[in-house]
Amino acid sequence: MRIGLIGAGHIGSTLARRFTDTGHEVALSNSRGPETLQELVASLGGPARAVTPEEAADFGDLVVVTIPYGRYRELPAGALRGKLVVDTCNYYPQRDGADPELDDDSTTSSEKIQDFTEARVVKAFNAIYWYNLRDRARPSGDPDRLAIPVSGDDEEAKSVVAALIRETGFEPVDAGSLAQGGRKHQPGSRVYTAELSADEAHSLLDAA
Ligand SMILES: NC(=O)c1ccc[n+]([C@@H]2O[C@H](COP(=O)([O-])OP(=O)(O)OC[C@H]3O[C@@H](n4cnc5c(N)ncnc54)[C@H](OP(=O)(O)O)[C@@H]3O)[C@@H](O)[C@H]2O)c1
Repeated sequence: MRIGLIGAGHIGSTLARRFTDTGHEVALSNSRGPETLQELVASLGGPARAVTPEEAADFGDLVVVTIPYGRYRELPAGALRGKLVVDTCNYYPQRDGADPELDDDSTTSSEKIQDFTEARVVKAFNAIYWYNLRDRARPSGDPDRLAIPVSGDDEEAKSVVAALIRETGFEPVDAGSLAQGGRKHQPGSRVYTAELSADEAHSLLDAA
């Protein structure tokens, strides 16, 4: 699959490595420009290129948005419209600035990104520390395989992302719609950054 990444920091670069290791082709972008990503791209060792965010959006059959939430209005909305977008972003008011709609719980960060981009957004890879993505991939059936909660309003999009998570060495656990998952696996929730098996994650998400 062709995967575009908007954001090439801890999560973006780690996912890019996992994706190229499992045979996908990636295009990475950040806010400072492709020239600042040459070293990272060269280190991936798989099919990878450095591009602008708009080019990453155009490139991807699937596009990962992995930037500080507070900057989501800088996303290339036109290029993302209708695309399958994986949103790893979390809302941290001290980093992102206060968002009254999130503070009063009237919506979720992923729904706001979906509304802004008109993409088919799936929330995933937001509740696992980047170093566990780097170090804790395990084959299917391994008792130490970690769960990754997944939520979204488009079932087909969610199943594509679930397959990608399995390939990268983790176990997807369905947390429902974006409105549900955006609350059940956000910062402060019980599954957030916890190192859980699929069964443990299911129980906590069901109880949330
Ligand atoms: N770190 C974790 O363990 C972790 C785990 C799960 C989820 N998350 C969430 O995932 C997101 C990314 O986290 P991170 O730790 O990878 O952040 P990070 O290391 O700070 O990297 C952020 C990346 O976003 C890029 N960026 C910022 N604004 C952009 C824009 N307008 N257009 C394109 N790229 C832009 C930055 O590029 P420049 O450097 O060029 O500005 C950088 O490559 C955050 O929302 C975070 O809360 C983090």
